[in-house]
Amino acid sequence: MTGKLYGLGLGPGDPELITLKAHRILTAAPVIAYPAPDTGPSFARQIAASYIGAHQLEVPVVMPMRVERFPAQEVYDAAAETIGRHLDAGSDVAVLCEGDPFFYGSFMYLFERLADRYPTEIVPGVSSVMAAASALKRPLAARNDVLSVVPGPLGDDILEARIAAADAVAIIKVGRHFTRIRALIERLGLMGQAAYAERVSLDNQQLMPLDDVPDDAAPYFSMILIYKGGEVWHPAFRNNEAGA
Ligand SMILES: C[S@@+](CC[C@H](N)C(=O)[O-])C[C@H]1O[C@@H](n2cnc3c(N)ncnc32)[C@H](O)[C@@H]1O
Repeated sequence: MTGKLYGLGLGPGDPELITLKAHRILTAAPVIAYPAPDTGPSFARQIAASYIGAHQLEVPVVMPMRVERFPAQEVYDAAAETIGRHLDAGSDVAVLCEGDPFFYGSFMYLFERLADRYPTEIVPGVSSVMAAASALKRPLAARNDVLSVVPGPLGDDILEARIAAADAVAIIKVGRHFTRIRALIERLGLMGQAAYAERVSLDNQQLMPLDDVPDDAAPYFSMILIYKGGEVWHPAFRNNEAGA
């Protein structure tokens, strides 16, 4: 009997946003794997830290920042081999994922290498986009609104087209693209409808209108939400409608 592979969504950072199911599997798994940068701590491990016991074996999947020197595919091949050895030995392996495993998560690279050979279960997590809307107290989308999730590294032309076509937008992976993206949103006349959320649900969370962000840079764990206000979910809109 082989072990079982789990993709565990852990939510956006606050350990209280780990689901009961993820917690149960996390505390029972003999082997825990997680993505880690080559310098600094693993965010996924930090979320789970208070629930990891000394008896659990940890397998960091170290992703070098300079990917051109060490292609990411080789890292996932090697990690899949290591995890496969534990599964072959009959140990369950829980792969820790920040947010949701299948929402822009690196778990999918391990999944595609292992899921056809081992029993696999994915436990969904609270995604950072949902957590950011809650923290900002801004509903994401209503009724027939189209919500687009747009990665910030995309070029200006694509970003502009996607933002123009949607009623509500979540721009993720903002990081070093922050200045360029903010200038684009300003050009589109959407500054008044754009909010910034950084390290959502953590103690050092930052929330503010995009216009108020003082710096010209943002950390990797940040996003911008835009709501164009087309649908009638807010009392102010309802009053306008009633008065129109
Ligand atoms: C590779 S994606 C992973 C998304 C994750 N799987 C999820 O479901 O939220 C990483 C991006 O998610 C966003 N993100 C993740 N956690 C965040 C947090 N706590 N606060 C703000 N943004 C976050 C950032 O835009 C970051 O660049």
